[in-house]
Amino acid sequence: MNTTTETFLDTSFKKDVYTGLTTFPKYLLSRYIYDKKGDKLFQDIMELEEYYLTNSEFEILSIHKDVISGFFKGNGNGFDLIELGAGDGKKTKVLLTHLSGQNFNFVYKPIDISQNAIDSLTKTLNEELPKVRVDAEKGEYFEVLERLHQYDERKKVIMVLGSNIGNLLHPRAINFLSHLRETMNDDDLVFMGFDQKKNPQTVLDAYNDPKGVTAEFNKNLLHRINSELGGNFDVDKFKHWEVYDPESGTAKSYLVATEETTVRIEAIDLTVKFDAWESIHTEISQKYDDKIVKWLAEESGLSIVTSFTDSRNYYKDYLFRKK
Ligand code: AVJ
Repeated sequence: MNTTTETFLDTSFKKDVYTGLTTFPKYLLSRYIYDKKGDKLFQDIMELEEYYLTNSEFEILSIHKDVISGFFKGNGNGFDLIELGAGDGKKTKVLLTHLSGQNFNFVYKPIDISQNAIDSLTKTLNEELPKVRVDAEKGEYFEVLERLHQYDERKKVIMVLGSNIGNLLHPRAINFLSHLRETMNDDDLVFMGFDQKKNPQTVLDAYNDPKGVTAEFNKNLLHRINSELGGNFDVDKFKHWEVYDPESGTAKSYLVATEETTVRIEAIDLTVKFDAWESIHTEISQKYDDKIVKWLAEESGLSIVTSFTDSRNYYKDYLFRKK
């Protein structure tokens, strides 16, 4: 990248799109799927029968909310509940309703990369759970981690639901968990969801629904480049493709060009050529088992306190403390 190009690349979206589409093999970062339309499509995904993750975690939180809240509670000072990647809070509301009903002393601090998600979550919580003190913030995981150091007055619980950590390959997950650990005091907890290894067909179906909602979700990356960066992707020339490797536990999403095509992206002054059947890697959704989670925790200076699973053993929420 030369200096003339860099002057065009004044946002991370521009920079990341430029890098991703000029690297071989091509990739785009899944975090950019989430604009207003992407948020809505993800909500639609969570309603899909095939997308078992949401229902599984919903079941876990509903059944174990009492025990989970007991771990969160701490000594008489209450606690700060910080949720990274809160989204629309669908699953969190189960916990919040319980905590609020039992008059727990806590502040709920949801953090999300989508301003749209943050705004609508704050609004619905104020309406539905007026007793809960909500202090929402827009931000990315790693930048927000810095600010977590401010939460030092009393016990904090850092929560990451939805297997959001699955967007990170293991080395980056360890990096993320290690950073989380650095912000923790001895009493603090991490409560985190990890989608489990299971029948590979079940995993594939979750990311390849027949209605094509997941395909639309994935293609939102191209729509966003078109509308925000002056791109001219012919989105119909790209096919959503999902693979799952049962050995590594990694599900990968791609957009594959069905014919040779050239795309112009005005705002980053880039012309990209796609060969027929060339791919753009867009997302990873990692699946785990107890051994891998234990290893990730140990590498990050954390230890597993306990875990909670659903009736099908599809999904687990783990509670971690500092080792
Ligand atoms: C929100 C990242 C956990 O990987 O399962 C859903 C996103 N992608 N369908 C996931 C997603 C395709 C989801 N996470």
